[in-house]
Amino acid sequence: MTNIFATAYDWIFSAGWTIESKRNNRKVDVYRKAIWPDIQGKVLELGPGYAESLRHLTHMTATDGAYVVDPGVVHSYTALEPNPYMFGGLHKNAEENGFRVAYDDATTAGHQSTAAAAPRDNAPQFTIVRGALDDSNCIPQAILDEAPYDTILTSFSLCTARDPKATVDNIIRLLRPGGAHVFIEHVRQPPPGDERVIEDNNVNAVLWGKIQDWLTPAWSFIGHGCHLNRCTGETIASAKGWERVEYKNVRPVIDLQSRIMPLSFGKAIKAEVTTA
Ligand SMILES: C[S@@+](CC[C@H](N)C(=O)[O-])C[C@H]1O[C@@H](n2cnc3c(N)ncnc32)[C@H](O)[C@@H]1O
Repeated sequence: MTNIFATAYDWIFSAGWTIESKRNNRKVDVYRKAIWPDIQGKVLELGPGYAESLRHLTHMTATDGAYVVDPGVVHSYTALEPNPYMFGGLHKNAEENGFRVAYDDATTAGHQSTAAAAPRDNAPQFTIVRGALDDSNCIPQAILDEAPYDTILTSFSLCTARDPKATVDNIIRLLRPGGAHVFIEHVRQPPPGDERVIEDNNVNAVLWGKIQDWLTPAWSFIGHGCHLNRCTGETIASAKGWERVEYKNVRPVIDLQSRIMPLSFGKAIKAEVTTA
């Protein structure tokens, strides 16, 4: 019974996200573009959804005239996604951006990799793996086998992680020393006077923060576990193992929904030498 409910919930969210992600993109792409140049090398994205992130990677024009991801910048891309109903859109977007798509057999039964004739000889591989990073004992073997990563990306997924702190600890574990966690997340309204806020828009942060707290239980139920009131920037910054963490906050006022979705975006660089 639980499985039927979870499956239905996954399907409903994936269907809703086909529409909602377009609206979200219009509001947040400007901030995504500011940090995307840091995405390079061997990349892992956690909770990619339909991989809206791929549109802002560094692209080049291929010999056949297609506009494809630059394999000199992004060497490979692993998409770790818990919701299998996202896989179709993920696959399509990855191919359209010039990747060769493969599935991790151990976690994604029944899905077909890109045909043997890859889009082009030097197309970087895009591997779809089912899972998450909430529990260090349940990280898929395919993710561990490919580690360490140069970049780990989260784009509006730590709001949904079951255990954001453990997820960030696992991100640090999977990064190479000097590697980057690049992130853009919606967060609880940062407190008034917060020095990281670069767009304040005279939002009443105390009031809207309380509204976020109040709305979160119902929002989380409807939104597949999404939380409106996480201080994700602080969760990342307070984790052990970073050399430095650079991020900014904005309080957009594009519409009413954006007042309950201020953003934190930036990067955290893993220390070269980690102390236990
Ligand atoms: C709001 S969507 C964001 C999708 C995409 N990253 C984007 O920016 O458009 C949230 C994503 O997080 C995924 N997700 C669900 N549970 C998760 C978990 N425990 N850890 C990480 N991501 C999770 C969802 O399946 C979904 O793909």
